[in-house]
Amino acid sequence: MCGIVGYIGKRHALPIILDGLKRLEYRGYDSSGVAILTDAGLVLKRKKGKIKDLVGLVGQETINGTTGLGHTRWATHGKPSDENAHPHRAGDVVVVHNGIIENYTELRAVLKGRGHHFKSETDTEIIAHLIEDHIKSGESFELAVLASINQLKGSFALGIMHTKSPDRLIAVREASPLVIGFGNTENIFASDMPAILPYTNNMLFMNDGTVAVITADSVKLLDFTGSPLPVNPKHFDINPATAEKGGYKHFMQKEIFEQPQAITDTMRDRLLFDKKEIDLNEAGLEGKLLHAMKRINFVACGTSYHAGLTGKYIIEEMTGIPVDVDVASEFRYKTPLLGNETLTIAISQSGETADTLAAIRLAKKHGSRILSICNVIDSTIARESDHVLYTHAGPEISVASTKAFTSQLIAIYLIAIHIGRSIGRISKQQASLYIDTLVTIPSLLDNLLKQEDKIIALAKEYAKCSDFLYLGRGISYPVALEGALKLKEISYIHAEGYPAGEIKHGPIALVNRDMPVVFIAVKGRVFEKIKNNIEEVKARDGRIISFTNTGNNDIQNLSDSFFLLPEIDELFTPILSIVPLQLLAYHIAVMNGTDVDQPKNLAKSVTVE
Ligand code: G6P
Repeated sequence: MCGIVGYIGKRHALPIILDGLKRLEYRGYDSSGVAILTDAGLVLKRKKGKIKDLVGLVGQETINGTTGLGHTRWATHGKPSDENAHPHRAGDVVVVHNGIIENYTELRAVLKGRGHHFKSETDTEIIAHLIEDHIKSGESFELAVLASINQLKGSFALGIMHTKSPDRLIAVREASPLVIGFGNTENIFASDMPAILPYTNNMLFMNDGTVAVITADSVKLLDFTGSPLPVNPKHFDINPATAEKGGYKHFMQKEIFEQPQAITDTMRDRLLFDKKEIDLNEAGLEGKLLHAMKRINFVACGTSYHAGLTGKYIIEEMTGIPVDVDVASEFRYKTPLLGNETLTIAISQSGETADTLAAIRLAKKHGSRILSICNVIDSTIARESDHVLYTHAGPEISVASTKAFTSQLIAIYLIAIHIGRSIGRISKQQASLYIDTLVTIPSLLDNLLKQEDKIIALAKEYAKCSDFLYLGRGISYPVALEGALKLKEISYIHAEGYPAGEIKHGPIALVNRDMPVVFIAVKGRVFEKIKNNIEEVKARDGRIISFTNTGNNDIQNLSDSFFLLPEIDELFTPILSIVPLQLLAYHIAVMNGTDVDQPKNLAKSVTVE
């Protein structure tokens, strides 16, 4: 939540910062601002609304300066407004912040007592005043920052400028992400890679409890006591074009269509087709270790949580190991019943979700091993895990997650087959059948995506409905949850996912012609059961949309509308059945004119609790 960009170098800072903010807008988009150090002094501009509103504001002026900070906000303390937008200033000190300062009320009271006046309702403004206060007491910029951050409690990624020290910017990281890009006579730092990639591929992900003093040609890294740390940037081989729309109307649509490629990339070098083996050596999940695991525990949020719920069906079936799935924000405050015989699997596209991070820290404290499935390389969750499997799905920009979900599912299949084989639960022959199925999925997805027109027709028919019910059974139940989540996230239409077997315990009371009931009815062990549920809805004059792979006419005759999915082993159906649901949500949202990539009140990466 919130995006930060800082630039210092030889070029004009403003366009670089605005471009970076646009690339980070997915992190928050209720207001934004820039601070540029010019020959005529500091220029500070803030605006409620999207980055385009800020561009409209600064575009009318010439703001020349080679050092600057920028921020795009997702409000936590204080409503979205020009005054609450960052950067915040106190005298010569300017600050942008991502995170939450938990002790800001106390610090604000102390600072007020020392004569400081506050202009915003934010927690961030106290940081600028605190640093200013230390500088006024005679400390250098660097020492003032060190002293101040040691007084803060909470999470903070900071970009700090001192107008009297124009040759440097200071970046601080504590529990909110920050990446430094190393250029040639220029350096840039930001909350996430996409803002840096157009300028350099040499980057360093800051660790918690670190401070970077950044000039145009140097980066000095310190811990919070001021002791120097080694500076070892890495080369990241990512093409910046992958973070652009490439002809699609929205990032979400592009990312839906990227799924065949994304899941192929997740399988690459891990699924050894010729040998019919899974190779997860990179994650260090050795047989001996896996034999010792008596329980698996998924922790995740949002769409990643739905991948975990699906993973429970897959892993229990393929390994026989019991699996629990927890929403990370619930898990982190429970008494965790786990130990060194539990493998905790964190799923997180960003690798930065605050609750998921807290959950793995707690699990670790209780002796559990941590495996993370992350998309963002070197993200905090990845770095804090004992084992990591990257999904390699490429940057996901749209707030509503699509390709991350399907690539997380692929990672789970790979892990499940690998564990199943390692502990002798599945035979080589069975593994080989699973592998044969997995390799067919990208082309099946390709074919599904070619049928977008059918989904557009469905969307047209149902776009104006105000409530939807999504029903599935067995492994299709989490798909129902995820389908409903997609619709509500981007179209603001009320949608509820439910296990179809439960409708008699409540939701069937809602059935009428105004509320479409979406069924995911795939061939498998509960097919006859879900058919009965469709009959029950039909008998109450419900309006039925079915997503089925049965090929016979039963379901189609019962349904007002249907979409035919390809046939595949039931265990692998979620990866196919979710895709038309993603497209349905997307097209309904487009037809209703919502901001698909940046839905209101949401953010891509929830780095606050
Ligand atoms: C936010 C995003 C979702 C995402 C969830 C978990 O709510 O809007 O798309 O599924 O966070 O994010 P993570 O990065 O941990 O997968």
